[in-house]
Amino acid sequence: MTEKSIRERIEQLRKEINEHNYHYYVLSDPVISDAEFDRVFRELQELEKANPQLITLDSPTQRVGAKPLSAFTQVTHQIPMLSLDNAFTDAEVHAFDKRIHDRLHINTELEYVCEPKLDGLAVSLHYEDGIFVQGATRGDGETGEDITENLRTIATVPLKLRGKGYPSTLEVRGEVYMPKAGFLALNKKAEIHGEKLFANPRNAAAGSLRQLDPRITAKRPLALFCYGIGVYKGKDIPSTHNEILKELKEWGFIVNPEIEVVTGIDKCLKFYERIGKIRSELVYEIDGVVYKVNQLKEQERLGFVSRAPRWAVAHKFPAEQATTVLEDVEFQVGRTGALTPVARLKPVFVSGVTVSNATLHNMDEVRRKDIYIGDTVIIQRAGDVIPEVVEVIKKLRPAHAKKINLPKDCPVCHSKIEQIEGEAIARCSGGLYCSAQRKEAIKHFASRRAMDIEGLGDKLVEQLVDADLIKNPADLYTLTLDQLSGLERMAEKSAQNLLDALEKSKKTTFARFLYALGIREVGEATAKSLARHYGDLESLFNATQEDLQTIRDVGPVVAKHAAMFFSENHNKKVIEKLLTVGIHWPKTIKSDANLPLKDKTFVLTGTLQDFSREEAKEKLENLGAKVAGSVSAKTSYVVVGADAGSKLKKAQELGVSIMDEKAFSDFLRELT
Ligand code: IVH
Repeated sequence: MTEKSIRERIEQLRKEINEHNYHYYVLSDPVISDAEFDRVFRELQELEKANPQLITLDSPTQRVGAKPLSAFTQVTHQIPMLSLDNAFTDAEVHAFDKRIHDRLHINTELEYVCEPKLDGLAVSLHYEDGIFVQGATRGDGETGEDITENLRTIATVPLKLRGKGYPSTLEVRGEVYMPKAGFLALNKKAEIHGEKLFANPRNAAAGSLRQLDPRITAKRPLALFCYGIGVYKGKDIPSTHNEILKELKEWGFIVNPEIEVVTGIDKCLKFYERIGKIRSELVYEIDGVVYKVNQLKEQERLGFVSRAPRWAVAHKFPAEQATTVLEDVEFQVGRTGALTPVARLKPVFVSGVTVSNATLHNMDEVRRKDIYIGDTVIIQRAGDVIPEVVEVIKKLRPAHAKKINLPKDCPVCHSKIEQIEGEAIARCSGGLYCSAQRKEAIKHFASRRAMDIEGLGDKLVEQLVDADLIKNPADLYTLTLDQLSGLERMAEKSAQNLLDALEKSKKTTFARFLYALGIREVGEATAKSLARHYGDLESLFNATQEDLQTIRDVGPVVAKHAAMFFSENHNKKVIEKLLTVGIHWPKTIKSDANLPLKDKTFVLTGTLQDFSREEAKEKLENLGAKVAGSVSAKTSYVVVGADAGSKLKKAQELGVSIMDEKAFSDFLRELT
């Protein structure tokens, strides 16, 4: 075949595949069998493999997941991504409709588009001449994260628009979600592998989209429903929201099939009722419905209040409640020894899941709600929060109901329980002698924002501690292939992967290391301040409580816990061992109160030629500056690279000082 005929064949195959995908995903009406589809797909893959120069980004083969990123870059939304006001009652919905009538001086019924409110993650998809070029999260509404490569892996995100009538620049907005069945299957798999479970489909979707490695995203069952547009250039915009949705469908996007156009607010309430009834049968989770004024002219006249449009409202479903019996209460021991009373319930089905545990928070809550073992209780599960006991049905309290008492000894290690006067929290005094605290400390050490040990899930940590293979974080690094592959449910390959991940984690930063130690009250931000202030471990070991308190953001409580931690011998030993096994970090540039850019806030925008965003940020932070995501009156300087957008405009409006890349390089040179 000549190159020309290969090119033509490739194009034809791509067209065919896109067409089949559209029939399969958008119309739910496939025209060929899966086997036939696979054959066509494989032919394209093989042709592309033999002719890599012909691969284009919009090819359907390019969904498998690109190489991992080291960090996400930020994307400024040209048009902010807004949120919605909520209504919980019919009266609030009527008030919404009345406000609109008053503002528009209209006394006839209005046309609304009624849509399910999906419980996923809002995204923006940018198309140039019909090709998907960039995708971003909503972020704070002004600035989101560039997740293009992850979105590319979702089968229902068109890489190339269908037909011809689309605008030259188009930004589509929608919700990425994980279907209920996919979520259950993913958690089942995680459970088998002893990994952490996702609390609900929304968290699972968010976690999957915010993966630096798109190959992981590609394996997750994600889908997209589109519900609106942002930038729309090069073509006249239709006159109603519903026509926009129709256009989106023609161009290959999936729009929720339950959407209805109605006249009058009472019909909206009928829609709410209808969707409420079929909610549990829907294959995706929703947390309410949304009503939007259909006419775009009217939307424009209504405008916005702060971050939400006046022309739309989210009518939320109430948090689902159920009644069950509290059979027992157990006390869980956390990383810092804190005891949390957990209710063991007679299993009950609430909003899609079976609930058998609920948090009782602490003993003050137990007393305030007057909860006894044996009580009939109302429990509630809302969104991603852990189920909780809302109230007790007192008249159903049986005669044998038992008062809940704080144990005197730790249920795990039998050390004394201590409760400081006036504090709601009681703690086990066993410290790292307590295996529950040890487990939690090691889980924290391995977590993503700490040492980021991939594959070391909660279940595995528990297994390792229970088998007495590890007692502290340093022991992780002396584990052998034999020990690991001897564990139940651990294949040799996974064992080797874990050893590789442990090896990889040895290269870290001083701040991450400090955070990973799990010092009480020392979160990520404090760990960063400590790392920057002291620069190395030795100085930190020598610091007194008074020294520590001089650092910005470090108060007396944090200083007390940090000083105590570094003075304890067993902590010193664990740290020494961690260094001996090879944990290391690049030299942290020490900063103190005299740092030249202390109290200065920078915003970076556009593309810099000589630095990556991360590098520029690190340089600034090492000089004591804060680097923020959005411009405000408090911003000291905005550094502007190529193709800067709305942040530059905002800086100009607010009169904030602006530096181009050359000025920025000169400025850094002066200071370093
Ligand atoms: S419209 C200006 N429509 O709800 C209108 N949002 O609270 C902004 N959402 O960030 C969004 N389903 O993540 C719209 N049918 C729907 C939606 C929807 C879910 C989410 C979206 C948004 C949040 C706003």
